[in-house]
Amino acid sequence: DFSGIDSIWLFGYGSLIYKVDFPYLEKRPASIEGWARRFWQGSHDHRGTPEAPGRVVTLIEQPGAKCKGMAFRVSPSVFEHLDVREKNGYLRFTTTLMFDNGSHGEGLVYIATEDNEAFLGHAPDEDIARQIASAVGPSGPNSEYLLRLAESLRALGDECTHTFSIEACLKADS
Ligand code: BEZ
Repeated sequence: DFSGIDSIWLFGYGSLIYKVDFPYLEKRPASIEGWARRFWQGSHDHRGTPEAPGRVVTLIEQPGAKCKGMAFRVSPSVFEHLDVREKNGYLRFTTTLMFDNGSHGEGLVYIATEDNEAFLGHAPDEDIARQIASAVGPSGPNSEYLLRLAESLRALGDECTHTFSIEACLKADS
């Protein structure tokens, strides 16, 4: 319940970084600690189909890890829109955001946990790359999602070896 609150930070670590289809008041590069990005969530409604699901990112808890992303300061009404867009198994929680200027803030993050039906979990990078190469959904090719995310992470300076290794496998195969 956001009554009485006029803006909230939302931390994006996946498609929210490059596909900003919601209004925001301010955006800032930020990072969160103790979480790592993984292509472990199945996508049968955006970047794949029920017959051939794609893979999109979620976060897993990993002590000492740091995940860079983009924080957006948004009006609470934005969540009505996002809760619909992200309903495929994602839930949201509050955590500390570290902004690049050294200041901290509280923000919301969406993750998909292993409890949701679409969760796929770990697989070798080559297998994940092959699955991504062959999946297409209503939002477009899964490979486009991977390539755009990898590009955005380079721009943010996130050393996400998981994403870059899957990107390298995809490029080597194509
Ligand atoms: C994100 O970019 O943070 C995100 C996008 C879709 C679902 C969950 C998280």
